[in-house]
Amino acid sequence: MTESKSITEHQQTSNVLIIGAGAAGLSLALKLAPHTNVTVLSKGKLSEGSTFYAQGGVAAVFSDTDSVDSHVEDTLVAGAGLCDEEAVRFTLRHAKESMQWLIDLGVDFDTEIDDNGNTQFHLTREGGHSHRRILHAADATGKEIENTLLSAVKKEKNINLMEGYNAVDLITSRKLNLPANRILGAYVWNRQAERVETIKAHFVILATGGASKVYQYTSNPDVSSGDGIALAWRSGCRIANMEFNQFHPTCLYHIDAKNFLLTEALRGEGAHLLRPDGSRFMLDFDERAELAPRDIVARAIDYEMKRLGADCMYLDISHKSKEFIVKHFPTIYQRCLILGIDMAKQPIPIVPAAHYSCGGVMIDHHGQTDIDGLYAIGEVSYTGLHGANRLASNSLLECIVYAHACAKDIINHIPFYKERKFATIPVWDDSQVGNSDEEVVIQHNWHELRLFMWDYVGIVRTDKRLARALHRVQLLQQEIDEYYSNFKVSNNLLELRNLVQVAEIIIKSAMSRKESRGLHYNIDYPEQKDNSQPTILCPQK
Ligand code: FAD
Ligand code: SIN
Repeated sequence: MTESKSITEHQQTSNVLIIGAGAAGLSLALKLAPHTNVTVLSKGKLSEGSTFYAQGGVAAVFSDTDSVDSHVEDTLVAGAGLCDEEAVRFTLRHAKESMQWLIDLGVDFDTEIDDNGNTQFHLTREGGHSHRRILHAADATGKEIENTLLSAVKKEKNINLMEGYNAVDLITSRKLNLPANRILGAYVWNRQAERVETIKAHFVILATGGASKVYQYTSNPDVSSGDGIALAWRSGCRIANMEFNQFHPTCLYHIDAKNFLLTEALRGEGAHLLRPDGSRFMLDFDERAELAPRDIVARAIDYEMKRLGADCMYLDISHKSKEFIVKHFPTIYQRCLILGIDMAKQPIPIVPAAHYSCGGVMIDHHGQTDIDGLYAIGEVSYTGLHGANRLASNSLLECIVYAHACAKDIINHIPFYKERKFATIPVWDDSQVGNSDEEVVIQHNWHELRLFMWDYVGIVRTDKRLARALHRVQLLQQEIDEYYSNFKVSNNLLELRNLVQVAEIIIKSAMSRKESRGLHYNIDYPEQKDNSQPTILCPQK
């Protein structure tokens, strides 16, 4: 069964290796390019990541009637008592300059003419925000940001873009039994050539996005498989707050629509949530109604669906004019129309879906992890900004603010590495493994994992469901580890290995929280505890 293979020797070097080409990774690459050479990896197409699909926009204070303090207050309220206030203030203080940086690069946020005939940004509103403060490019903000960043990056001679390369594992001095605990590079899988190569680097940055693909239903693209979190964990980094996976209340419910989001800005602009009989229900749950924070809205929808045995609820903005809808939500309008839903005339069927990982790799204000020279920025990281529930449109903002802070730190350290040689790293040896003969094992485990995560570790949890999930995930882990040791890697195998690891971290984090708070709701502990703290898991060394 196992055929003999030769040892591969494809090695290259780069001062900086950025794993991920979304808002976080590309912003960092642009900031570093004037100072050093940078390699950026993307697993699939360069533009494929959550950034590209972001709809609502980016939160930042641009209105005279708004203030950073108010943005801080809204973030802390949404975060349900678990935000790190210092991280919140740090991020929101830098929001305006970060957005100005994007605007200067060419990001074209929507504008309007005010009463005095002046042009100003059109600011929309989303749940949990007490002011209109969301900069947006209609309902396709992420596409505008990703495309602008990509075209800027492509002009930089110092940036080497490597499309179709999966980071497989990080290489650290500790793993090689060398002194200190420093990053040395990464093994990466060249998808086209189907071989594992080595990239040696002085600095490695995880900018791999979130892990919502661990759930059966998600708003995220396929690349969101928690790779960065699993890579960091396997290398000895602490991971925090993974029980707080955010479920977006409104994803399109339609047999032909996979992962399609209906932006919260629809509710910000007046859309109502309806039961199948057409009655509104959010006021029964929260006085802020449709604009309550996401955890509350998603749980209310889940509750009503289960109570009524309904397949979905509805989102209705048909009381607004068609002109208004088409101007503000052109992408959603077209997509729904193609599927036979005219949102200017009828309610849209919706369900909640996994959307955002509030937890992640623990970092400081510069993105530095527990390993020297290894950084994490964007959704893969845990900064303390989101606490137990992220405020809408604070995520893209976090990507840019931390990319800039990380760049500063790396630039400060570059002089110390100028003359330093790259470490000697053993080449990847797959001479003892064969090609997979049973692809069905991977497919089956993918489905099983995502289904039990949805059923047992979803919007509403119980101790019994969590225990069941842990048992299942540990069985899967054994099977995948065995498979990984015996067969050559493939994209599905790599992602499954990472997802199973991340699932275990989510379940263990959820089991250790003996209360209900923000996005974590456990029927066995419905109350909040006093002095609640973030959940921090440490890998066994
Ligand atoms: P991503 O943009 O997800 O990019 C991840 C990158 O990492 C990709 O290039 C991928 O190929 C690469 N990668 C992953 N694993 C590997 C690996 N092993 N090897 C090599 N490369 C790898 N947030 C807001 O603030 N406002 C919004 O309006 C908003 N709307 C959203 C709408 C949708 C549908 C979704 C899914 C999310 C939305 N979010 C929004 C959240 C926000 O878009 C994300 O949190 C943010 O874009 C994450 O950016 P990132 O750079 O961290 O990762
Ligand atoms: C949305 O547009 O509803 C998504 C916003 C976000 O996730 O921040």
